[in-house]
Amino acid sequence: MKNLYRPIESVIEDIKKETPNITTYRFRPKEPVTFEAGQFVELTVPGVGEAPFTPSSNPNVKDTLEITIMRVGMVTEALEQMKVGDTVGIRGPYGNGYNMKDFEGKEILIVGGGVGLAPLRSLILALFDDIDKYKKVSIRYGARTPDDIVYRDLLPVWEKKKNTEVLLTIDEPHPEWSGKVGVVTVLLDDLPLLTTVDVDKLPFTAENAVACACGPPIMLKFVNMVLLEKGFDPSNIYLSMERNMSCGLGKCGHCMLGEYFVCMDGPVMTAKQIEKFEDPF
Ligand SMILES: Cc1cc2nc3c(=O)[nH]c(=O)nc-3n(C[C@H](O)[C@H](O)[C@H](O)COP(=O)(O)OP(=O)(O)OC[C@H]3O[C@@H](n4cnc5c(N)ncnc54)[C@H](O)[C@@H]3O)c2cc1C
Ligand code: FES
Repeated sequence: MKNLYRPIESVIEDIKKETPNITTYRFRPKEPVTFEAGQFVELTVPGVGEAPFTPSSNPNVKDTLEITIMRVGMVTEALEQMKVGDTVGIRGPYGNGYNMKDFEGKEILIVGGGVGLAPLRSLILALFDDIDKYKKVSIRYGARTPDDIVYRDLLPVWEKKKNTEVLLTIDEPHPEWSGKVGVVTVLLDDLPLLTTVDVDKLPFTAENAVACACGPPIMLKFVNMVLLEKGFDPSNIYLSMERNMSCGLGKCGHCMLGEYFVCMDGPVMTAKQIEKFEDPF
């Protein structure tokens, strides 16, 4: 019988520092670990433990995967001590990703906060592979300070892609920053009330737009609130729900939200699925 908990040996092939506490690792698994944008894997640092992460690389690249990881505790600190050529374990993928078929012909609003842009990068790269299928891709990203911006070399490249815009904000004024200031919801101010204004003039239309958000729970809560106020259909708001996860397989119950196992029914869930919970974040 297949052992579902067996991690696949994976060699660290590249390490790239994104910010003082966020690093992108490229892994080459000894057996393919393929995934869809939004799904997650469990990563084991031998002798330390395992933790869930959503790959940040293009899901259409099959022989390697990248994960962008913020250092917060035991596993992530141990990983930071590792070098190119060292080996970790990866098992998965688990859970539901984005149903990209549903995105075709629509405007895609992507809202990320902090390291939350990492799981969205995988979606963004998959969208770029088929950019003509989508009306528009609008990426709106907030970081704490200019030094905390991830993918700073990629953002200008993304901005030049067809049908794409990139808007940035940082939380507090900073001497080296002349752009927008405020938490990420300030980047949603230009979205008009979808239900009340002239549809032809809208950057986003209620029927034709989907929103995908990933970031700290408090950010998700407010982004979701603003999008609903603006008239987005709750079925068109996709939120990356982080929960305390262990098995990733619907067996341990650590990740439960009401009747949902977030590791299986999520981590990408729609605002519609979670609207009945008082505080799902
Ligand atoms: C589906 C899913 C996808 C995820 N994808 C990513 C990803 O792409 N990149 C990424 O960096 N992280 C991601 N995370 C979060 C990641 O799993 C945790 O940061 C990781 O488990 C921490 O493990 P650790 O052993 O280093 O920390 P621990 O030793 O378990 O925790 C140490 C301390 O850090 C706190 N902590 C734990 N997680 C976080 C956090 N996210 N932010 C701030 N403090 C925290 C804990 O409360 C604790 O106080 C994801 C989580 C889930 C559930
Ligand atoms: S993580 Fe174990 S049931 Fe979801």
